[in-house]
Amino acid sequence: DTSFAAHVQHQFSSYEQDRQMSSKDVIYATSNGAAMPHPYETQRVGENGPLLLQDFHLVDLLSHFDRERIPERVVHAKGSGAHGFFECTDPMSDITLADVFATKGKRCPITVRFSTVGGESGSHDCARDPRGFSVKFRTEDGNWDMVANNTPVFFLRDPAKFPHFIHTQKRDPSTHLTHADDSTMFWDYLSNNPESIHQVMILMGDRGIPDGYRFMHGYAGHTMKLVNKDGDWVYGQMHMKSMQGTKYITQEDSANKSADYSQKDLYEAIQRGEYPKWSVEWQTMTPKQAEELWETQKINVFDLTHVWPQDQFPRRKVGEFTLNENAINYFAEIEQIAFNPSHMPPGLEPSSDPVLQSRLFSYPDTHRHRIGVNYQQLPVNAARTGYKFGNFQRDGQMAFYNQGARPNYLSSIDPIKFRTRSTDLDKTHGHFIGEAVTFLSEIRPEDFNAPRALWQKVFDEPARERFINNVAGKMEVCKEKEFIKRQIAIFREVDNDIAVRLEKATGIKGYDGIANMKFNGTHNGFAKDASL
Ligand code: HEM
Repeated sequence: DTSFAAHVQHQFSSYEQDRQMSSKDVIYATSNGAAMPHPYETQRVGENGPLLLQDFHLVDLLSHFDRERIPERVVHAKGSGAHGFFECTDPMSDITLADVFATKGKRCPITVRFSTVGGESGSHDCARDPRGFSVKFRTEDGNWDMVANNTPVFFLRDPAKFPHFIHTQKRDPSTHLTHADDSTMFWDYLSNNPESIHQVMILMGDRGIPDGYRFMHGYAGHTMKLVNKDGDWVYGQMHMKSMQGTKYITQEDSANKSADYSQKDLYEAIQRGEYPKWSVEWQTMTPKQAEELWETQKINVFDLTHVWPQDQFPRRKVGEFTLNENAINYFAEIEQIAFNPSHMPPGLEPSSDPVLQSRLFSYPDTHRHRIGVNYQQLPVNAARTGYKFGNFQRDGQMAFYNQGARPNYLSSIDPIKFRTRSTDLDKTHGHFIGEAVTFLSEIRPEDFNAPRALWQKVFDEPARERFINNVAGKMEVCKEKEFIKRQIAIFREVDNDIAVRLEKATGIKGYDGIANMKFNGTHNGFAKDASL
């Protein structure tokens, strides 16, 4: 059959078959399919002369090799992943119309990617660093990406700080050293942005180096909105609880682990049939409760540095997910996966959290740079909806799903079908603004409550000692005493005990407190002085 239709059928049914490809099934050939007698056959003038430009085989080989690397992720570059499924155990259709949470026993295919944050793609898995925890749910209503971390809070609540913060976690522009050898930038940033303290306490404590990826929880961190079929909505915070429990590695132990410790652990556990599982749970809150929370406890639901009190807002379980399949081709199935917090199916919406709002833009933007404009068409990213979907996006590099002869405009000759909106737009988009924006850059006494509870109630005495050692070790390689004095003052606001112990460990006397300190990243101390 010489028709183009026959060719297309031959070509595009092959992704699934190619995943299982073995060398014994293939004949060595150049990229246009011409068989070659041997890979080491180079055409040259005579025995020892220069090479020939006509040698397509060599040019083909070298020019493809030259382009093997795509840009690595600007953050979270080192990672591991696997495939599996989510199963709904306790439907939440009363509060959300999200298809994935609607039916007991219904399964949804997923791919998960775990990562460290600051290091490059070959960096050490056991770094003291938050861990990324992303889940791509291939729901029948479109893909939903939960792009979470293993900590419920973050270093900042003002998205404009993110590139600054990340740069201080990466290599120095001049010395090219990381903060393992020179922590000056690291402490400069943190000692100027005290709202980071809750995350710093977690990072420097036992949870700072989880034991691989199977033994850690995941947290959305951001407040989201759950919208039901009547268009009513509540705020929600998603938790992914490891059903293996949690385990950590001490600073000392981390030095004895291999660079790919977490990759090996996850891959081998799945190969052995020990499939890791997480329970998916939601805290929910009405808009009215959110206002009360601000009035009574000064916790703003759009503030990523704070958590929702669990006693007032208990978790409600909706299902579990299991990772039971390793990737067959790491690059195609894990490196090219593209998570994006703005991939949300009906029933799930973003809140006004400004950090989340910025992320809605940043991820698809970076994917177009890292992978290309048609990144959604790659097999690992392609949606697997319960309906055939089409739109008016066309062309661009590597357009595989270019939608055939379908009109590329809203045609009246060949009209596209629409699914009516399930909820009332006015209702779902009604906003609770609160004071999220006005207090973003001000440090408040409440910022220290949760870190204080960690120190006083969660850490036992050996954990406190490990914490002090971790922080003091990190401070040893800081070149500016001033940053240490400032950071000790921030720790003093948490608990004077931390400051005293750090002063002893470092031999540096910290400032008394932050009231009279100036911060380049915030209003001054507890006062509303924005003059800096
Ligand atoms: C990865 C931006 C905050 C979790 C990334 C990437 C960018 C980015 C550009 C690389 C994506 C890629 O190349 O595929 C930002 C910005 C933030 C922010 C601008 C704040 C303004 C956060 C927060 C969390 C988070 C608060 C967690 C709650 C992640 C994770 C990944 C990631 C898990 C790795 C995704 C993967 O495995 O492919 N972020 N991020 N980020 N980010 Fe963020």
